[in-house]
Amino acid sequence: MPAYVVVGMQWGDEGKGKIVDYLTKYAEMVVRHQGGNNAGHTVVVDGKQTILHLIPSGILHKGITCIVGNGTVLDPAVVIQELNSLEAAGYETHGRLFFSDCAHVIMPYHKLLDKAQERFRGKNRIGTTGRGIGPCYADKADRIGIRMGDLVNEPIFKEKLAAVLDYKNGVLEKVLNEAPLRFEDVFEEYRVYAERLRPFVTDAVKLVHDAVAADKRIVFEGAQGAMLDLDHGTYPYVTSSTTVSGGVCAGAGVGPTNIHGVIGIVKAYTTRVGEGPFPTELTDALGEQLRTQGNEYGATTGRPRRCGWFDAVQLRRASKLNGMTAIVLTKPDVLSNLDPIKICTAYRVNGKVTKDFPTGIDVLENIEPLYEEIPGWNQDISSCRTWEELPEKAQRYFLRIEELLGVPVCTVSVGPGREQTIERIDPFAIDACGAGHGLTGNPA
Ligand code: GDP
Ligand code: IMO
Ligand code: MG
Repeated sequence: MPAYVVVGMQWGDEGKGKIVDYLTKYAEMVVRHQGGNNAGHTVVVDGKQTILHLIPSGILHKGITCIVGNGTVLDPAVVIQELNSLEAAGYETHGRLFFSDCAHVIMPYHKLLDKAQERFRGKNRIGTTGRGIGPCYADKADRIGIRMGDLVNEPIFKEKLAAVLDYKNGVLEKVLNEAPLRFEDVFEEYRVYAERLRPFVTDAVKLVHDAVAADKRIVFEGAQGAMLDLDHGTYPYVTSSTTVSGGVCAGAGVGPTNIHGVIGIVKAYTTRVGEGPFPTELTDALGEQLRTQGNEYGATTGRPRRCGWFDAVQLRRASKLNGMTAIVLTKPDVLSNLDPIKICTAYRVNGKVTKDFPTGIDVLENIEPLYEEIPGWNQDISSCRTWEELPEKAQRYFLRIEELLGVPVCTVSVGPGREQTIERIDPFAIDACGAGHGLTGNPA
């Protein structure tokens, strides 16, 4: 059962794209199972940057099968753009890239509704990416969504669109004061998209089952991060899908027994885009310094990311939510000139010290983070390629993270490039809860 979930442990943008691309050399199939083009996954190979929004980050490896699963939401215009630029760069897509016929289609009214709802929320806005993600998932749950299988079947698409557009135009006009959409315009636009995408649409769940049965190594590529999960994140400042590892089961059509390990991508500090609580946020010059040094600007919207210290309280919660078995630590190189470096190990909430991450938004907004200081290493680590080459003080920071989370740091990423990756322990060799490495999955 060599199937592994790669999942973001914070508020997204942990470096999942880079790591999925890196791990793909050990895999035969890469599957995206949730989210849509709200995601921006950056991969840098031989100095060339590619930003993927929906197509799995394994696509840059020749011959790897890439699946966009049933749990995703797919904006055809964006996917076609992604396909075109990959094909123009010489990457083969036909015969190895597949979109699930059960994935839901993002329609023009979803994007309009996303933006209109944000305006309506005013000061309570979520800060969504405006890509129509929430309204598309809402229609899925409301059972009025259009799926990829419908899109590529013209008579069915026509019928479903006509039925839903009447209703959506009512909402747009009468509730949100927006102009209605013309059926002919939407139908024609999407008919052209369907022509281009038809060869890629299939029963992708069966392809995943076949790979599982053949014992192929599968990497499931998570989007967003644990704290943006619809159930477990900082609701309502979350995205509309299940971002934690368990989402793989529904979003790709496999059982929990098919999952061998959960590789958590953990940034060496914390970032967040959009609104919502962020206990360790630095709103001062240091936050600005982290943003500049880490180039923390959204890969999808270009928005500046909010930055702050590493939060072990939040990460312990995320580790449990995901059943994390291995840590890939990213971007510690960004901290190289900071001394000391801080780790939040507890919160003071209403005068009481706690190591538990609170669930209520009102509580989360009024937290005092309590820090421990770790000496900085004051030296560039971006050209280190082995654990032994890392300065001892950097190793100490990484080992403290390992101790606080109770999960081994298997891989350390020291730059955006594929080659800027240090392998310490094989993340694929770890049983649930890190057995064999003296770590039990229980934090210090
Ligand atoms: P994702 O959404 O989790 O895939 O992450 P993003 O691609 O949105 O953001 C991560 C950013 O950090 C991208 O610009 C990456 O190229 C970059 N990056 C990834 N790993 C590292 C690293 O170890 N060090 C540095 N300095 N940059 C990294
Ligand atoms: P990757 O996969 C960071 C955030 C948005 C907003 C909230 C809801 O690159 O890590 P949505 O458009 O999903 O309804 O917005 O979620 N968000 C992300 N933040 N990285 C992402 O993806 C994100 N996808 C959504 O900023 O706060
Ligand atoms: Mg991103």
